[in-house]
Amino acid sequence: MSQAVLILIKPDGLKKSLTGNILTRLSETKLEIVAAKMVRVSKELAEEHYKHLKDKPFFGDIVMYLQGQLYDRKKVMALVYWGKDAIKKCRDLAGATNPEEADPTSIRGSYGRITTIGVYENAIHVSSNEPEAEREIKLWFAPAEVIVDLYPVKEIMQKEVINKIWAKREGKND
Ligand code: PPS
Repeated sequence: MSQAVLILIKPDGLKKSLTGNILTRLSETKLEIVAAKMVRVSKELAEEHYKHLKDKPFFGDIVMYLQGQLYDRKKVMALVYWGKDAIKKCRDLAGATNPEEADPTSIRGSYGRITTIGVYENAIHVSSNEPEAEREIKLWFAPAEVIVDLYPVKEIMQKEVINKIWAKREGKND
């Protein structure tokens, strides 16, 4: 059955210029990318993403890590992969969460490390199951940013919403 899964290339993956390598590895799955964007991660977004871990001693550290506070790359690449057994296929390629336990040929085994304070810097996040994938995709993406209909949507009329649109450059005629 077709499934969707949220993938995050985390700040350490971006800092180490691993985006191409990681996307190439993920392309082995033959899954379809149905959403992708660069995100500056707010504290609120990081805390909500990891909310099931809020009682863990490393919660504050992983919130900072996802925000890129430990790097000069304060961004994350968020993607949704879609297709048959998407979660298992992506998790198999990612390898174990703990980079030291991950198969050395997996993405985390190849590129991850554990910091001196014991936080896993494992380059990539992959949703762990279908309910989590749905929660995470809805947290990171709006319906219009995903090119297939994954979940039910509703239409609302918004009044007095301030949006940014491209402006004309000063001194240009058209
Ligand atoms: S659990 O315990 O099964 O609910 O946790 P899990 O879903 O595997 O997610 C744990 C996330 O926290 C990150 N992290 C750590 N986990 C355990 N121990 C240490 N020291 C640690 N440091 C960081 C881990 O990488 C998981 O995040 P993601 O983004 O999924 O890799």
